[in-house]
Amino acid sequence: MSKYDFHDLYSEYDYEEHGRSARRRRLRSRKKRKGNGRSSPAMAAIQQMDDSHESWVPSYAAALDPLHHERHWVIASVAPFYHDALISDVTRLVKGGKEANVYACAASPNLGVDLIAAKLYRPRMLRHLKNDAIYKAGRQLRDEEGKQMKGRRVKLALRKKTTFGKHVDIMWWIGNEYGVQKKLYEAGADVPKPIAHAGNTILMEFIGDERGPAPTLNEINLEPDEAEPLFRRVMDNVALMLELHHIHGDLSAYNILYWEGDIQIIDFPQMVEARHNPNAYELLLRDITRVCDYFARFGVTADPQKLTDDLWLPYMGEKR
Ligand SMILES: Nc1ncnc2c1ncn2[C@@H]1O[C@H](COP(=O)(O)OP(=O)(O)O)[C@@H](O)[C@H]1O
Ligand SMILES: [Mg+2]
Repeated sequence: MSKYDFHDLYSEYDYEEHGRSARRRRLRSRKKRKGNGRSSPAMAAIQQMDDSHESWVPSYAAALDPLHHERHWVIASVAPFYHDALISDVTRLVKGGKEANVYACAASPNLGVDLIAAKLYRPRMLRHLKNDAIYKAGRQLRDEEGKQMKGRRVKLALRKKTTFGKHVDIMWWIGNEYGVQKKLYEAGADVPKPIAHAGNTILMEFIGDERGPAPTLNEINLEPDEAEPLFRRVMDNVALMLELHHIHGDLSAYNILYWEGDIQIIDFPQMVEARHNPNAYELLLRDITRVCDYFARFGVTADPQKLTDDLWLPYMGEKR
């Protein structure tokens, strides 16, 4: 099976869907498959593929029903990191979201850290991708190594949403998120250290400990004396990102982890290029407004409009 087939195979098996449209989708795909799914060619292929990975079943997957597709999805997604001696186990699901699941992994002994977070993008993310959004974002297509991809074939495939096109999409998004996080980390931003990426998965430093992940800011109440310095810390990160020509694009108390009195910013797939995105200013203003709204609950007074302009106007002056 080629690696391109991998994403197509699992796109039939998005799980944890709720509500009518999800039910309808399931019904539709069941009709299409003419069976209960377990005997479909896709399922047979999953089981066949799984055999090649059965040599290693992480403990989280071992606890799942052998026919549960999450089991196969997790094994297939993280096996490359196990074989590269980066992780030795997947121990728990940290959080399951619309676009991705985050799992806690035990790091291989030689790595110098105990825990690693693995963010696995769901195949359904592909359906949400809009080619025009990619181009509007002013980014260029990059492959997994961050090298620029060129050519009519790539553009055509993206437009047609062929299997190759979908593969380019997911590679592009994941390579882009990983590359941006690496650049920010190396520049000293408060983001988890990125460790590796392959296929639909990014590995990074786990923020938290064996008892669980760090809470997000929206889950906690800050002490009166820590709100102001943490607010400044977040704003310093926003300024550093802008200096590097990036705007988070989805910054809020939901994407900032709180750990040992410090913050760590996460979740970068919405990141936009400040120089080329026509909505850059609005997105920066929205990010800063959400941060100000959160910290206002703990007595921090700030004017988001002024803060945005104080960053944006000098940046616009310098970027030419
Ligand atoms: N490096 C990490 N360390 C610990 N927990 C993490 C890490 N990255 C993400 N998480 C947890 O997973 C959740 C979802 O991650 P996030 O990157 O925000 O994905 P999304 O919001 O797209 O589902 C976070 O709210 C956090 O609880
Ligand atoms: Mg998030």
